[in-house]
Amino acid sequence: MSADTPILQLQNVESAYGPIKAIRGVSLKVRQGEIATVLGSNGAGKTTILKTISGIIDPRKGSIEFKGSDITAKDPAFIVQQGLSHVPEGREVFPLLSVRDNLLMGAYTRKDRDGVARDVEAVFGYFPILRERAGQEAGLLSGGQQQMLAISRALMAAPQLILLDEPSLGLSPKLTKEIFEIVVRINRERGTTILLVEQNANMALNAADYGYVLENGRIVLEDTCERLREKEDIKEFYLGMKEEGVRGERRWKKKKNWR
Ligand SMILES: Nc1ncnc2c1ncn2[C@@H]1O[C@H](COP(=O)(O)OP(=O)(O)OP(=O)(O)O)[C@@H](O)[C@H]1O
Ligand SMILES: [Mg+2]
Repeated sequence: MSADTPILQLQNVESAYGPIKAIRGVSLKVRQGEIATVLGSNGAGKTTILKTISGIIDPRKGSIEFKGSDITAKDPAFIVQQGLSHVPEGREVFPLLSVRDNLLMGAYTRKDRDGVARDVEAVFGYFPILRERAGQEAGLLSGGQQQMLAISRALMAAPQLILLDEPSLGLSPKLTKEIFEIVVRINRERGTTILLVEQNANMALNAADYGYVLENGRIVLEDTCERLREKEDIKEFYLGMKEEGVRGERRWKKKKNWR
């Protein structure tokens, strides 16, 4: 892989659930070391993109390359071993296992015990609450703490790329901000590349370097996040700048009830 090969590249990827085409010819690149984001509203196809990358869904068409090698429709366990971890929508921690055992599950393919122990310490450094709750069942954690655990469990596989599915789901604006700050720190300090999908365009555009806008399964716009933040139509339609506080609050309440 040459220095300018993207760490991840999707070309014309199409995925469907029976007759329902969820993504329709998606092409995107994630560069080594960056935070990239895909923005889109409910049902746009964000989760489907991530599931297709990590091998949970096989695409009908198109190709996916990770570090210059084809991973299209490969087994999810194989893809994790290549250095690509997925933090699923809704966290999906193992509720009956302790916080520590959830972390160790994330490292189950690793043989370097010292490295695993160091990474447990590293994630406790990012999320100190997890150290306090290390012996407690993960199902007893709050939604935000479970999100922290899900991100930490992905880190325990020592990935080069993390796929992050709507970390803001059901969290208060304050907690969302805290989690995003740590995601940015993980990217800067560990050099982990991140592909983040979000409805919360405001948060995602502040954290990420490069962004794609997804509508009805198609990418309709892409640019640096700096430029996307400046675009008037993005401000109105995706960032809800006109009544920012009100909408942000409403969305949070809605999602909170829904969980
Ligand atoms: N298991 C499934 N079976 C049938 N259709 C599905 C399934 N999962 C998703 N879809 C459909 O595929 C489309 C894309 O869904 P997807 O979950 O990828 O959207 P999303 O952008 O992640 O939305 P959200 O923001 O609500 O999580 C939607 O029309 C959805 O109804
Ligand atoms: Mg989703």
